[in-house]
Amino acid sequence: MRKPIIAGNWKMYKTFDEAVAFIEEVSDKVPAQDKVDAVICSPALYIPTLKAMADDTALAIGAQTMHEAEEGAFTGEISPAQLESVGTDYVVLGHSERREYYNETDEAVNRKVAAALAHNIVPIICCGETLSEREADATNEKVTTQITKALTGFTAEEVKHMVIAYEPIWAIGTGKTATADQANEVCGVIRQVVTELYDEATAQAIRIQYGGSVKPENIDELLAKEHIDGALVGGASLQPASYLALVEAG
Ligand code: G3P
Repeated sequence: MRKPIIAGNWKMYKTFDEAVAFIEEVSDKVPAQDKVDAVICSPALYIPTLKAMADDTALAIGAQTMHEAEEGAFTGEISPAQLESVGTDYVVLGHSERREYYNETDEAVNRKVAAALAHNIVPIICCGETLSEREADATNEKVTTQITKALTGFTAEEVKHMVIAYEPIWAIGTGKTATADQANEVCGVIRQVVTELYDEATAQAIRIQYGGSVKPENIDELLAKEHIDGALVGGASLQPASYLALVEAG
């Protein structure tokens, strides 16, 4: 039985004061870690404060991206070592917005996954198709390629501790959720890819989230599906009440 993981991705929303008020309100209300993994991926500059606030609670804090290099002359970037040094628990990698606006390639995602593991940060690896790819019946091929490339070079033991997020791009921030059956079908394809690359035990261990207009009203139906182990949530993670409703569903 895989433990659900509900991660909020705040993207570039919330001022510092708003972020602090949110964590103050939710951190001691999230259910115990033996029931669900509850994560907030905040803007990176808030992580040290939010981590300190969430200390001694079940809430984990993540980043939304990171650079792949150990250190260097990369103005404005944040390294995996820097994220580790402030206690970051998770990092979202290969989000479609990073792929689209910041040229994050499958190869870069693969290197970032390695860097995250080297710094004890759990990677949440995103994949998903555009609307035209879905209409051209190319969804399975797209996610298979993205996941195969992201996992290149890792052992089964390493893969078991990763998280994959299936986020169809046409469902992100649009209010159009994939149906639970559509989401489950693609999460099943991803699990099959892991079986073929590794083995059944690894595929059964890795957690696969669905993301794309998840909200309290649709989470139960999604989580009831065989291959959906949680959610990566944008808009509905911004309000304490809806975030708490999501983690309680987990
Ligand atoms: O990473 C979460 C995401 O892209 C989905 O956003 O607003 O559709 O829940 P949203």
